[in-house]
Amino acid sequence: MTDTVVAREPTVVVDDVHIVYRVHGAGSGKGSATSALSRIISRKRASGVREVHAVKGISFTAYKGEAIGLIGSNGSGKSTMLAAIAGLLPTEKGGIYTNGQPSLLGVNAALMNELSGERNVVLGCLAMGMSPAQVRARYQEIVEFSGINDKGDFISLPMRTYSSGMGARLRFSIAAAKTHDVLLIDEALATGDQAFQQRSKKRIEELRGEAGTVFLVSHDNNSIREVCERTIWIEAGELVMDGPTEEVVGRYERGERP
Ligand SMILES: Nc1ncnc2c1ncn2[C@@H]1O[C@H](COP(=O)(O)OP(=O)(O)O)[C@@H](O)[C@H]1O
Ligand SMILES: [Mg+2]
Repeated sequence: MTDTVVAREPTVVVDDVHIVYRVHGAGSGKGSATSALSRIISRKRASGVREVHAVKGISFTAYKGEAIGLIGSNGSGKSTMLAAIAGLLPTEKGGIYTNGQPSLLGVNAALMNELSGERNVVLGCLAMGMSPAQVRARYQEIVEFSGINDKGDFISLPMRTYSSGMGARLRFSIAAAKTHDVLLIDEALATGDQAFQQRSKKRIEELRGEAGTVFLVSHDNNSIREVCERTIWIEAGELVMDGPTEEVVGRYERGERP
């Protein structure tokens, strides 16, 4: 009998990564209103740099076709980890290797408030490397996916008139119009109604099928359960558990650290 070796292709390798934020002018720590005020009035530079060690020695490998959930309490380092994979934060120690182009889709993704939704769709697509012809071909689909126009012609209004949910929906719709090698989604599914969430989940499935890797940070454990077969749990910047979603999310919900 011969063994068939299925070569799994790694897309992201995170190797003993440490990430440290340096907050300049964090000062001598009293933090009272009067000390802050006197600092501002005297224009003295607050002394010192405070360091926040947000990720402490995390390692894992992601493979093509995987959707991986990232869970952990507030401030555990999930967003930091995603930003680092996207190449937006330097590592203090260790390395991150990606095979393909990672794209971070966060609640803060840059769309321009003064421009209409329509202009943002076009600019966003161009920024992702689509050609003007591709943008024209996908435009209608993106707007329909977002559901922005479900209750009237909102797509021609400036983004600043949108609710935060509408903005997040549009951001996701733009990013999802393209296939990504590595798609990093930070809380973007939390917004939007049931129908939009269903469309998003279906789209994430397709993106995986198109051989990318998807990382999903969400406070909604059911979204993680539906979308991801593997989940990584981090706390205080350290990896607690990495395994099948049901096992990891189950323990997380029961508060059982392995
Ligand atoms: N820009 C920043 N400057 C300094 N500290 C930060 C910054 N962003 C996040 N942190 C700190 O890093 C830690 C991890 O934060 P974050 O990655 O946002 O956690 P999560 O997404 O899991 O809620 C927290 O202690 C947070 O206060
Ligand atoms: Mg976060």
